[in-house]
Amino acid sequence: MGPFRWPTVTNFITRKKKENFLTLESNKLPRHIAIIMDGNGRWAQKRGLPRAAGHRAGVESLREIVEACAELGIAVLTVYAFSTENWKRPQEEVDVLMNLLTEYLQKESTELHRKNVRINPIGRIASLPETARHELARAVNLTKDNKGLILNIALNYGGRAELVDATRAIAQKVISGEISPQEITEEVIAANLYTGSLPDPDLLIRPSGEFRISNYLLWQSAYTEFWFTDVFWPEFKREHLYQALQDYICRERRFGGIKK
Ligand code: IPE
Ligand code: IPE
Ligand code: MG
Repeated sequence: MGPFRWPTVTNFITRKKKENFLTLESNKLPRHIAIIMDGNGRWAQKRGLPRAAGHRAGVESLREIVEACAELGIAVLTVYAFSTENWKRPQEEVDVLMNLLTEYLQKESTELHRKNVRINPIGRIASLPETARHELARAVNLTKDNKGLILNIALNYGGRAELVDATRAIAQKVISGEISPQEITEEVIAANLYTGSLPDPDLLIRPSGEFRISNYLLWQSAYTEFWFTDVFWPEFKREHLYQALQDYICRERRFGGIKK
């Protein structure tokens, strides 16, 4: 992926939400939003449904949130779809998740392309099943020249695995003499992560009432603002995203400095 360019955002975005008007000043919006799409299983359990039904319902939330982010002019959305630890689940559930991914890409990539979304998988993609890899490659190729929202889909993703992979890549460069150990800086490490030249997430949303990072974007989230909600991912809709954005806008980010 080429170098990241900040989008120029000048508009005010106003949306009618029930009787309220929500105005989000777009120059204060996060450029990069990360989401841990969690709570599908519990959402289904609560309704006496199989976990698979929760995952299927979760795809609907993803569709809505991607659309909302594209409309708002968000530059990057990174969604956690499958972690390096999720292989521990019963094979049947892993199969459901992989099939849903394939189905999502088959059904949605044309529409995502129309919305100018660029699909960018991050994680150890080579270990995914062949059919999922095939659909991913197709979706990536279809959307590769799009200049709108960058949709990072974290698949077989682990923050630690990412740091291991980056370390290996950097070690190779040292061995080949491309760089010296003294030249390894924070920028070099960041550039060798799956997220490459993309900006760090400004806002990380975790639904489902869990307060942990679960091996997500460990390096990139150093100064990310966190937003939690008890709502399960299948019930997470535009209104929840807007709540998170309104809270985010009111926060003061200091990055270790002092109040301006
Ligand atoms: C998130 O929902 C989906 C994945 C991890 C793939 P979960 O399946 O983790 O749902 P809960 O947390 O068990 O409710
Ligand atoms: C994180 O959720 C991974 C994804 C949402 C893809 P998990 O459900 O796997 O996380 P833990 O096990 O509750 O920490
Ligand atoms: Mg979970």
